[in-house]
Amino acid sequence: MLLPSGWLLRHSVVMWLLFHSFVLMTLCFHHAATSCSKGCYCSDSEGSFDGKTMRCSNLHLTEIPQDIPNDTRRLYLDYNLLTSIPANAFHDLPLLAELDLSHNELSLLEPGAFRGLTASLKFLDLSSNQLKTLDPDAFDSVRARSNLTGNPWHCDCRLQTALPRLDLEPVSLTGIVCQTFEPSDAGAQGVPFLLAKDLDLCVVLKKTTDVAMLVTMFGWFTMVISYLVYYVRHNQEDARRHLEYLKSLPSRQGKSEESSTISTVV
Ligand SMILES: *[C@@H]1O[C@H](CO)[C@@H](O)[C@H](O)[C@H]1NC(C)=O
Ligand SMILES: *[C@@H]1O[C@H](CO)[C@@H](O)[C@H](O)[C@H]1NC(C)=O
Repeated sequence: MLLPSGWLLRHSVVMWLLFHSFVLMTLCFHHAATSCSKGCYCSDSEGSFDGKTMRCSNLHLTEIPQDIPNDTRRLYLDYNLLTSIPANAFHDLPLLAELDLSHNELSLLEPGAFRGLTASLKFLDLSSNQLKTLDPDAFDSVRARSNLTGNPWHCDCRLQTALPRLDLEPVSLTGIVCQTFEPSDAGAQGVPFLLAKDLDLCVVLKKTTDVAMLVTMFGWFTMVISYLVYYVRHNQEDARRHLEYLKSLPSRQGKSEESSTISTVV
């Protein structure tokens, strides 16, 4: 009586293991069929949203995966090794609303990096990367809220002129805290760049252009003055020569000239 039940138990364990592996296999096939990028985890968004969530966090990725489903709504690429975002990296993802690129090595966002996301993107996480400056052309009028904290921002005239050209939600810009400056004595270390209102990092540039203008003007001035001096000297010499010539003339001729003018007057 004991033997069959033991056999049954062992049998059911084997059956259970078989079933389990079958379930896993189906899941794997399903995974492949829905074309999720290798190593990433895809799931249909909870709620009534159409579109997927794709998680590719912590996969040592050095490039953005190629085969991202075009109905992806949330894309997590955080904790990878991305160093740059090429142009048009996400342009065939018309539903993408949330993009997490935090905790990478990003130092370059190429012009057009976020092209095509103007209408859809709501949240863009660029925190904890290696960004030093921002190129407005990378954002292509994206209006998302962005997390820009945890980057080694280099605050200079270039960044100062870039910020007003960004369409990102203004609160995003409070994440730009200067780590280095140009000019280096500008101060305001650890203060959000946006809040250091009276800081003008382009003033040095203006100063140098002012100096250039001054030097040019001085050059012109010197030229004009030296020409004047030359002109006056030259004329003086002419006048002196003329005078000497007049003096050297016999006085008789002068008298006859005088008398002739008098006769014409009379
Ligand atoms: C995704 O691509 C397929 C086939 O190319 C297309 O039919 C579908 O409309 C696209 N979906 C979106 C949301 O663009
Ligand atoms: C921005 O990101 C940092 C770390 O990456 C996080 O600690 C912080 O809470 C985030 N801020 C916002 C406003 O999401």
